[in-house]
Amino acid sequence: MYDRSKTNNQKLLKWLDEAIALCKPSAVRWADGSEKEWKELCEGMVESGSMIRLNEEKRPNSYLVRSDPRDVARVEDQTFICSEEEVDAGPTNNWEDPAVMKARLNDLYDGCMSGRTMYVIPFSMGPIGSPISHVGVEISDSPYVVVNMRIMTRMGDAALAALGPDDEFVPCMHSVGKPLAEGEEDVPWPCNPDNILIIHFPAERLIMSYGSGYGGNALLGKKCFALRIASCMARDQGWMAEHMLVLGVENPRGERFYLGAAFPSACGKTNMAMLIPPAQMEGWKVWTVGDDIAWIKPDADGKPRAINPEAGFFGVAPGTSVKTNPNAMESLRANTLFTNVALTDDGDVWWEGMTDEPPAHLIDWKGRDWTPDSDEPSAHPNARFTAPASQCPAIDPAWEDPAGVPIEAFVFGGRRVADIPLVYQAKDWEHGVYVGATMGSATTAAASGEVGKLRRDPMSMLPFIGYNAGDYFSHWLEMGEKFAVPPAIFHVNWFRLDAGGNFLWPGFGQNMRVLRWIIERVRGEVGADESPFGSIPRKEDFDWRGLEFSDAQWDALMAVDGEQVRSQAAEPNDLFDRIGDRLPAQLEAQRKQLANE
Ligand code: OXD
Ligand code: MN
Repeated sequence: MYDRSKTNNQKLLKWLDEAIALCKPSAVRWADGSEKEWKELCEGMVESGSMIRLNEEKRPNSYLVRSDPRDVARVEDQTFICSEEEVDAGPTNNWEDPAVMKARLNDLYDGCMSGRTMYVIPFSMGPIGSPISHVGVEISDSPYVVVNMRIMTRMGDAALAALGPDDEFVPCMHSVGKPLAEGEEDVPWPCNPDNILIIHFPAERLIMSYGSGYGGNALLGKKCFALRIASCMARDQGWMAEHMLVLGVENPRGERFYLGAAFPSACGKTNMAMLIPPAQMEGWKVWTVGDDIAWIKPDADGKPRAINPEAGFFGVAPGTSVKTNPNAMESLRANTLFTNVALTDDGDVWWEGMTDEPPAHLIDWKGRDWTPDSDEPSAHPNARFTAPASQCPAIDPAWEDPAGVPIEAFVFGGRRVADIPLVYQAKDWEHGVYVGATMGSATTAAASGEVGKLRRDPMSMLPFIGYNAGDYFSHWLEMGEKFAVPPAIFHVNWFRLDAGGNFLWPGFGQNMRVLRWIIERVRGEVGADESPFGSIPRKEDFDWRGLEFSDAQWDALMAVDGEQVRSQAAEPNDLFDRIGDRLPAQLEAQRKQLANE
């Protein structure tokens, strides 16, 4: 039924044989990753009504897709880590016994691809051949997944060729869960929203996803593999899989310095990864390595080396504009897939925030006429672009270096409206791990109804740690020993408000001033003041060219209330409590020290 001569990896052939017998597709096709295949699949979806070809002049080789309105985002409550023992999934994950879950999945997958083609999608997370990269194979009944994976990963024949007969790979099984009966007409976005399951079996390094065709639920290389399963591999093999952007800062001497930065979802990671410094900071430049995920391994000398395991950006479209992120806008000028954005009358795309003035008429993400008087936004708030990273004007020349880039600092950040200064440096690795473990963001009204409540998101990995969070903190502590010089750890907060509710810091490109201080701090070029949080900058050590910022503003931005720091550390930490026995003693010691207990 399929071409078995494409690989001599017996594990892969066996898995495919079993999956075909179970899912019963009407055809099986290897994805080769070619341009020809991309055209054929996209044009096929245009013909079937699943895709809209955009205006070739305005947006060459690009397409719009509208999902089923019930399938628009990752579904964390249907995401499970099926370790053998529940305690190994820990308090931050849903768990089910692997045998019970397998039985449930086998029922669901039985015949789930009938009437459809099963695509076999070999892919490499990271540059092919890099010692930091890993291969996966996704099988999917969604051609939309195939074309997205072609942008987001190194997909097709080259990845398959890298898989030797005995090499390991991560099997990733995906179905939209909508078999077609004989003669049944398909819908534009098949899915099974009432039965979505996103399942990870860490012992087998196996992913099984059912029912959704959207983003992280379906493009299994991203959150499922590169974070949840990879975090387990990293724990066992002595490296790190983190929800971090990676960027390089170049100083006027042409020296480049790399850092990884972890922010909760929806805190502007893509903007930071592509930051454009203020013109007055002549000679300073930011280079993008990745905007979402970093894999970091010590090299032979113990130096932390990072790759971006992805090859594209799966970015949130609303809010992205030439003002907020010109490099992102340039990255999606062509060869891009858009999902759930609005369609303009001249066959281009639009979303809230793209321009100051909305167009007079659009077709919204549900396919309805839209005008500025409409009650609902024209694009879904989680509408996405899938764009090749190579199209980013700021892409780092070393972004595909198989050796990875050397990481000198980690930056944690969150949306903290009241209590945390613009930037501080943790006292040492152990304190830095505490800072990451306790980081969090203030909730916004849209998310929870309770404005300003702190939602903890350790290392911005809350939905992505593939095992017990206490063991994950222990792994971080151990990595401090594995690196010859562990990266210096900082915390930033772009979101502090004054008493009137205004942002104290202008953000965006101005954040370059903070990056400069971080680098100069790591390189020992500037001093700092001490505070209960760790080291904080002195105003005179910041580069102020091109920005008026009064001493009073600075003092408000940098204020640290020692008593507040103490009492916050003394408050019960729900996450630590739930981790219980598996919480490393060092973190409790850090907490006690801050709380003066
Ligand atoms: C993402 C996320 O989509 O973090 O990157 O949710
Ligand atoms: Mn993310």
